[in-house]
Amino acid sequence: MERQAYKLPDDFFFGAAMSGPQTEGHWRDGGKLENLWDTWSDLRIEDFHNRVGSYAGNDFTNRRHEDLVLLKSLGLTSVRTSIQWSRLLDADGNINPEGEKYYHELFADARAVGIEMFVNLYHFDMPTYLFRRGGWENREVTEAYARYAGKAFRAFGREIRYWFTLNEPIVEPDQRYTNGAWYPFIRNYARARAVQYNISLAHALAVREYRAAKAEGCLLDGSRIGLISCFTPPYTRENPSKADLEAVRMTDGVCNRWWLDLVTKGELPEDVIRTLSSRSVELPARPEDKLILADGKVDWLGCNYYHPERVQAPAQGTYENGVPRFADPYVWPEAEMNRSRGWEIYPKGLYDFAMKARDEYPSLEWFVSENGIGIEREDLEKDESGVIQDDYRVDFVRRHLGWAARAIQDGAKCRGYHYWAVIDNWSWANAFKNRYGFVEVDLEDGYRRRLKKSAAWLRKVATTHVVG
Ligand code: NOJ
Repeated sequence: MERQAYKLPDDFFFGAAMSGPQTEGHWRDGGKLENLWDTWSDLRIEDFHNRVGSYAGNDFTNRRHEDLVLLKSLGLTSVRTSIQWSRLLDADGNINPEGEKYYHELFADARAVGIEMFVNLYHFDMPTYLFRRGGWENREVTEAYARYAGKAFRAFGREIRYWFTLNEPIVEPDQRYTNGAWYPFIRNYARARAVQYNISLAHALAVREYRAAKAEGCLLDGSRIGLISCFTPPYTRENPSKADLEAVRMTDGVCNRWWLDLVTKGELPEDVIRTLSSRSVELPARPEDKLILADGKVDWLGCNYYHPERVQAPAQGTYENGVPRFADPYVWPEAEMNRSRGWEIYPKGLYDFAMKARDEYPSLEWFVSENGIGIEREDLEKDESGVIQDDYRVDFVRRHLGWAARAIQDGAKCRGYHYWAVIDNWSWANAFKNRYGFVEVDLEDGYRRRLKKSAAWLRKVATTHVVG
């Protein structure tokens, strides 16, 4: 199945995904405040790539017109980026005029080039002054986020049709609070779930703001609100034990069902909350929250899909240093690994997600909002003329699109595909180590752009909708 050529529907859209903090740079210009990534980069001044990354992103701000033209020339019709909270608002929560001007100019540029901008409002970029007040652990910050969203809808509502509240809302709880992998490196499962809960409220409050802005006539006809999240059905070993199936239930519940239930039913999965509570993880819930969460339903959803989740029951006990453990990672013997990143490549996971959405959330419309392959040291893959020979990227995308096509045939409401990141960009803890682009960014040569070999393939697919 993965080898044959197939056709995607004519109205299936192709685009590029990126984010403000990973591309814009100019982190202290135009009244921009620090977000947690800027603060962390500043603490790591010895690291050239991080230093440059945080100051300059991938130089998008300086090159945005040529970048948008380039993306358009690759046959792409839409681009998703994010507004940075720390650029749009000042520390009193008022619009920063220079920040507002920046985004008006960006959106005008996109319109001039013929690119539809999809705008997300939060991409892991908590303003540092708000983090110092507790960040997502503080309900007032959740409410401040909703006010920020309301201001963004009203400022740009006549320019942007497709809005998203948050990107991958499970990731900050996990990376900042559970695994302690991201600054400020907290390791506390209960705090992570409290953060996840408050982020869910923030999403719902922002959707409420969106509906209010719509009722006031501030938005374009045909506008839509959505959430972008990473989804992946978890798998366990063959002949699973009861405990393995329980590990699957909780992994799926916390990472997938949590958001799917929120955006389709306006509620959180009861069974997950009960299990958390039975392990003394109490969420900071208040009686009025049910009504707030009920407003979390959206018009459509973005699904970021990179890799599957393979889990099994915890090997030793269910607590570690007093912290509940619900699942251990399981290394599937037949796993095909991405040689650089350690992420498993499993294109069929996208199909499995699509079938879960079709069967369990039948009214849900969605699109692939991120999918991509990050490779280290691609500079070693150049031919004599200096072009990166990234056939592995074509293979990766071709197989994922194949499963998307099959899912659509089988009734999935999957409307489009955004690749992450068409132009190499800066990435969190990894800076510029893993390169995702169809377009190379040369850091040693003033951020110069150059097409990789795979770009011609992308252009053909995006313009013909035939994936060969
Ligand atoms: C998902 C995130 O949304 C994005 O910010 C990140 O860079 C990519 N994954 C690649 O890891």
